[in-house]
This record gives sequence, structure tokens and C-alpha cells, in this order.
Amino acid sequence: MTAHPYLQLIDIDQYFGQFQALKKVSLSINEGEFVCFLGPSGCGKTTLLRVIAGLDSLCSGQILQAGRDITYAPVNKRDFGIVFQSYALFPNLSVADNIGYGLKSRRVSRQNKTARIRELLSVVGLERSEQKYPSQLSGGQQQRVALARALATSPGLLLLDEPLSALDARVRAHLRHEIKQLQEKLGVTTIMVTHDQEEALTMADRIVVMNHGLIEQIGTPEEIYCQPQSAFVADFVGEMNFLDGFLCNDSQVQSQSIRLDVSQTGSFSIDSPLRVAVRPEDIRLRLNGDRHNVLNGTVLDLEFLGSKARSRVAVKGHDQILIADISMNELTELELRNGQNVDIQLPRDRLQLFGKAAS
Ligand SMILES: Nc1ncnc2c1ncn2[C@@H]1O[C@H](COP(=O)(O)OP(=O)(O)OP(=O)(O)O)[C@@H](O)[C@H]1O
Ligand SMILES: [Mg+2]
Repeated sequence: MTAHPYLQLIDIDQYFGQFQALKKVSLSINEGEFVCFLGPSGCGKTTLLRVIAGLDSLCSGQILQAGRDITYAPVNKRDFGIVFQSYALFPNLSVADNIGYGLKSRRVSRQNKTARIRELLSVVGLERSEQKYPSQLSGGQQQRVALARALATSPGLLLLDEPLSALDARVRAHLRHEIKQLQEKLGVTTIMVTHDQEEALTMADRIVVMNHGLIEQIGTPEEIYCQPQSAFVADFVGEMNFLDGFLCNDSQVQSQSIRLDVSQTGSFSIDSPLRVAVRPEDIRLRLNGDRHNVLNGTVLDLEFLGSKARSRVAVKGHDQILIADISMNELTELELRNGQNVDIQLPRDRLQLFGKAAS
């Protein structure tokens, strides 16, 4: 399937007085894509979303939607639905009237409107809630209504500004999954603003990482995580260790008293200061070398936790079961399975001593 650019942002600059909130932002979003704007607080995510919606007038640049120049189009002449962080429902209107609000100006017959509202309520899993008022709904339910309202006119573009951040963790994880499924089903081009990297990594087709009004990197979740193009992206998305050092010859970096072989030196020249970055899961723990505190044991079970696994290990000659975290790389390399015998090393310098409390 060939991708068609649906939304094009060209050299967007936005100022608030003297302050430049967006700096030459250019971006092309394909039809049906789910794109996340990810970045720290104040980096310009909402500003960019508001500019796309026409809620703030643009200082300079151009916006094209479905081939049409909408740079100066008023809000009511644009084709989008929007959901904000705070549910922003009309408290004095019923759920049905909230959802039907956008249909008012569209000369939809009463019968069709009722049918459409029912359909939308079923899409967001809130059947038979038409007559309720926002105050009678939970935060998650209110956000479903806001989503239904945004989708009522079947817009070409769905804009979501931190729609999940006001919800508690469980509801958030659940709605995250539902929104993603709904978006795939409807095929509506979607932009979601978030400062939650996990949300972006799990939901987006492509992530736009922003910092200080600039786009740092655009890529698939995998590209952003595995091939970060700047220390900012590497640090912001996922966990990362940094070692400051300098290039001491064409294949080695000196960092304090350690010397590391590196495979690529990029554009760095000898003596130029740099930072070596390494993901925690790429660091391996080895059992050879230092043989202090090596115990023998059996793996009781392994629990998958994403980038690592948690194992419970029975120790030979001891009745205490130990819990040990290991990377997926190690798990593969050591071919660990339940019931397997393993060596367990307890590094000397990680052991702390406490007085025994009287029982
Ligand atoms: N109406 C405004 N007037 C003046 N400055 C503004 C206005 N709106 C935003 N800003 C500034 O522009 C910058 C970007 O703001 P924006 O709201 O886009 O950030 P954000 O990335 O959405 O952050 P958050 O994650 O906190 O929502 C911030 O420094 C903010 O203070
Ligand atoms: Mg914001």
C-alpha cells in the first residue's frame, strides 16, 4: 500500500510575544497514520496541535490537509475532531447532547442524529448512557464521551491532547488499548500529544520527539528506541547509561580510568569529548571472572517484564528463595528455563550488613 501524505506542516514558526515556541517545524503525516508528539513539558506539543486545529493563528509557515491549504482557514472550516486532557464536556448537557453537539450545524435529521449518537456510544462502549450527565460518569467514561463527540462528524483528522493523563493508571492502560483499536478500525488519521514515552511507544505508528520547539527525531517506535539520533532522544525515551569520555584513538574511548572499544567513531576526532551511551538491557552480567559468592541453585520460574525477566531461584543448601532480574539478552544466551540449574553470583560489593532485630 502506498502512503499518501494527508497532513503537511511546512516551516511552522510560532511566537508568543518574543518567545519562539515552534522553530521551523516541518512534518508530513500519512493518511490513516497514528502519530504521537512526544516531549517534555513546555516543548511545544500543544502549541503545534492548536496550530493544526486553527485554535491559534499561525505566525509563519504553511499547513496542507488532504491537499488543501488550510493555513488561514477558520476553525469551523477545518476537518478535525479534538479531545483535550480535561474532559471539557458541557456539564449542563446530557451525554447524547454532548455527542450530538457537533452535528447541530450539519443539518442532520433528528432520527439520523439519534442513530448516530447510539452508534458512537456503542463504538466507545457506553451503550445506554444517553440520558446521563457528565457528573454521573467516571473520568474514563467522560473521556470516552469526549472521544465520541470528537468522532461524531467522521472527521478526517483526530487530534488528542494528552487524553489519558488525567486518568488513573489502570483506566489509562485500558483506554490506551481501546483508542488504538478504534483508530485502526476507523482508519482515521490521528495525532496524539503525550509526554508519556510508554504511551507513545505502544500506540504510535510514528513518534515525533520534540524539544524546545524543535523536532529532534521522527521515526517508528523501534527507530526512536534503537537508533536515537541525539543524546536527548536517547535519554528521553527509555533508560540509558551515559559515560563521559573522549576518543583516544580511532577505535577506543577513554572514560575516567576505563577504556572502551567502540565500533564506530562517527564524526568524532581524537581528543574530542563525547558521551558513550548504553541501554541497561545491553549490559551483560557474566559469571566467569570473579568467582566470589557463587552459589548453586535451580530456576523455579521466570516472569517476563518487557525488557527484562524476573526469576525466582531456589538456593542449594538454603531455604531462602532468591529473586533475580536478568536481561532478555542474557535469558536467551543462558537458555534459562524453569527447573534449570544455575550459578548465582552475589557480588561482594552489593551486600549490605544490618544488625539482627530482637524477636
Ligand atoms: N498562550 C501562551 N502565551 C505565552 N506562552 C505560551 C502560551 N502557550 C504556550 N506558551 C509557551 O510555549 C511553550 C510551549 O507550550 P506548550 O503548551 O506547547 O507545551 P507542551 O509541550 O504542550 O507542554 P505540556 O506537556 O506541559 O503540556 C511553553 O514554554 C509555554 O510556556
Ligand atoms: Mg501540552
